[in-house]
This record gives sequence, C-alpha cells and structure tokens, in this order.
Amino acid sequence: MQDSATPVQPTASLTLDPAFSVGEVNPRLFGSFVEHMGRCVYTGIYEPDHPTADADGLRTDVLALIRELGVTMVRYPGGNFVSGYNWEDGVGPVEERPRRLELAWKSTETNQFGLSEFMNFTRRTGIEPMMALNLGTRGVDDARRLLEYTNHPGGTELSDLRRRHGDEEPFDIRLWCLGNELDGPWQMGRKTAEEYGRLANETANVMRLIDPDLRLVACGSSSSAMPTFASWEATMLEHCYDRVDYVSCHAYYHEQNGDVGSFLASAVDMEHFIDSVVATADHVRAKVRSSKRLEISFDEWNVWYQSREGEDPGWRVAPRVIEDVYSVTDAVVVGSLLITLLRHCDRVTAACLAQLVNVIAPIMTEPGGPAWRQTSFFPFADAARHGRGRVLRLAGTSTTYETAKFGEVDHLHATAVEAEDGSVTVFAVNRDTENPLRLTADLRGLGQARVLEHRVLADADRHATNTLEHQDRVTPRQVSGTSCQDGTLTAELPPLSWNVIRVAAS
Ligand code: AHR
Repeated sequence: MQDSATPVQPTASLTLDPAFSVGEVNPRLFGSFVEHMGRCVYTGIYEPDHPTADADGLRTDVLALIRELGVTMVRYPGGNFVSGYNWEDGVGPVEERPRRLELAWKSTETNQFGLSEFMNFTRRTGIEPMMALNLGTRGVDDARRLLEYTNHPGGTELSDLRRRHGDEEPFDIRLWCLGNELDGPWQMGRKTAEEYGRLANETANVMRLIDPDLRLVACGSSSSAMPTFASWEATMLEHCYDRVDYVSCHAYYHEQNGDVGSFLASAVDMEHFIDSVVATADHVRAKVRSSKRLEISFDEWNVWYQSREGEDPGWRVAPRVIEDVYSVTDAVVVGSLLITLLRHCDRVTAACLAQLVNVIAPIMTEPGGPAWRQTSFFPFADAARHGRGRVLRLAGTSTTYETAKFGEVDHLHATAVEAEDGSVTVFAVNRDTENPLRLTADLRGLGQARVLEHRVLADADRHATNTLEHQDRVTPRQVSGTSCQDGTLTAELPPLSWNVIRVAAS
C-alpha cells in the first residue's frame, strides 16, 4: 500500500554526464526464452497449418512481432523441460520422431519441433541461440555428444549425422547453460550443491576439450527465496569457478494481496539479488585465487502470477498453461526490472525475459488466429531498441513512499543509456499510482541537449490489458511538454508509468 503521507506531487532530480558510466550494454541483455512448455513452441512460434505459416511451419505473423520486439538471443529448450529431454528425439526425419511423456509440465511432447527447427528459427530472426543441456536425467556424455552434433564441421559420427539431417554447416552455438535450476525439489535429477558443482565442472571440462572458447553458464539458485540461496552458489562455484563464465539468476514477481506499492518496487529485490550473487561469486574468486571475474546470466525473469496456475494439463499436446495476461501495472514492473538489468550492465551481461510466446510472454497467439502484443511487449521493445551503448551513472534524489516489503522506496526508478551517436535515452518509471512525477535532469554534460521524444506507457485503468478481443487496448503514446532548456530537462511522468525520454546532444 502506498503511504498516506505521500506528497501530492512526487519529484525527482537527476544529473547525468557522459564522463561517468557504469559500462557497455551487452546486446545479450535483451534475450528471451523458448521452452517446450504449453503453447510457446506449438501454436506459438510453430504452427504448420496456420494461414501465415511458411514452408518450415513457422508463423510469420509471430516472427514479425519477435523482430519488432528486438530480441537478440533465445534460450532453448528449457527450463524444467530440459532436465528430462533427449535432444536426439528432436533431430532427423520428423515422421520418425517419438512422442513422449513430458514430465516437467505433464504433457505429451510430439517432437515435431526440435534442434534443427529451432536453429532455423534463430537464423530467420537473426537471434543468437543459447542452448541448455540436460544435466538432470543425463550428464557429461550427453553434453559431449550434443556439442559434437551442433558445432563440429564434419567427419565424425555425430557431425555427419547432422549433415545427413540436412544441416551441412555447423550451428556454432557459443552460449551453453549447464542444466537448469538443479537445486529445485521439482527438478528431474535434482542435485546437492556439491554434486552439481562437480558435474558442472566435469561437463565444462569435456566441452572445453572440444572448444575452449565456449561461454558456459553455471546454475545459480532457482530463486533467491530458496533456503540454500547463496550457499548453493558458494559451494558449487568452489568446484567449477575457473571453468564457467556466468552464474544464472532466475526471478519472477507478482502483485500480492493488492499491495501494488511493494509490487512496483520489485526491482529493489532484483537489485539485492544481483548484488548478493556478485558478492558470493567474488568471495569464491578470492578463495580459489582466480583472476577471472564471473558475469551474471539473468536467464529467467518476468512477472508471473504463479497463484493463477490452472489445473493439471493431463498429458495433452500443447495445453494452455501459465498464459498470464499482463496489465499496465505488470508492464511498468517489467520496465523497472529492465532498468535494474541495465544499471548492472557491468556484471549482468546476458538475460532472458521468460518466455517469448504465450507462456508468461510478451506475444500472444490464437491457434489459426491472430498474434498480438501484451502490455509487457512495449517496455521490452523500447529497451532493446534504445538501451544500446553505455549506461551512464546517475546521481540524484527522489521523493519516496513506504512499502510493506521493502521499507522506503524512491518514486522514481531510472537509468540512462548513451548511444554511439551521442544521443541519450532516459528510461524512467514513476511508481506513484496517483500522482504525476515532476522530473528535472541536469544534462549540461551533453552540451546543447534537445528532446527528440517522450513516449509513455500508462493508463487511467492500471488493470487494463490487451486481449484477443481488444488487441490494441493499451499502446504507448507520445507526451508533449517535455523540454530541455539551458541543459535542464523538465518532464512530467504520469502516475504509474513507463517513460522513454530521448535527447540529442549537440
Ligand atoms: O519459465 C517457466 C519455468 O520457470 C521454467 O521452466 C523453470 O526453469 C522456472 O522455474
């Protein structure tokens, strides 16, 4: 709940100067996630009978939205799914592929879509693949064989098998997740931190014998709420520190019991999570006397109303599961989480909005019908487009409000990114649900700055959504009145809003 002592007009002031930066944004920060779960693959990206489907069964209406979203990288094929997956089921002639019980989400996997189809999807969209390995029911040998199949040019059993399957050129997948959430009691093949650390180390060793330059992600805790959080990271990293490049983080947020004030401050939790994992990784770095600094792959993050989960899907093919419909409030939180990732771009160098289509996703589809943008589509598309370059260090103050979960929190949450051409984009969230926020920013470091645009996502009804019936109910709009005079930017951020303010420097 927002505090009754909230000032009538929230205000904030910022100073930014290109001389002071956090670091370069890695384009992998704008990744997403395609899991064989619900309708993410089947009737999501892949629907051969759909009127817009191409010769490969990909929905071209969905591909167009994915391109517009600006996704740079996609993690595949899970998630919990990967911990019971045999990749061989998804290669070779489609008509010979097995149907299997899919135990993570209790559905039937037809394997009509697999590795080759996924790689075709990444080529068509210009997206980098991030491949997750099954270290649940499988292990080192599976990793070795899959890597030979995907990355070796030819002349061996598995690379030649790929060529016979029609993929002459190696896929050259650079980024690999060493399993998924293996600390979770729900995970097939769950491990202790000791077991996982050793397995990750041995798997990484074998993979690096094939290609020493791969980028490898060790599984961090499946959430910061796990009782073993931080000790899992510390223990497993002691076994594999020098052989991996990233530690993964996963976090999902949702509004609980009408406490919108705490929900809007979810980024406080994400920030604390990142700082804790960085501190733990750096502690192990000192302990194992390594010169290398690990990076964070925040490879699952989003708003997810886990409480809204429906009934057991009961072994159906592509059932409708966790198809959350996002409100304007949810979209503003997604924007705020993006701001947090950008503010930590010196250590968070890969991230995946989970997931891409239908399953807690920015894009929704109907089988045989249309595809449309959820509210959360807009902040992601804005950040992926304008969040490229150098994140600038912000100094400033904001009025605050009291939250049940996080105590006193700023009304303003913001970051700024300087593009190669010197223009600067300020991404800003006003967390006040009732009042516009008056923002002033000292931009004298930019010379004669001039406002290019101020675009906002906000609505008089914070619960407004885009649905099949009303696909464009919520869209961003331009705001007039934002100005920059003598190096001072003044803007009014509507109540509960995501804002993109772009300024050109002289
Ligand atoms: O994204 C949905 C699920 O959330 C993933 O399969 C799992 O890794 C996480 O718990």
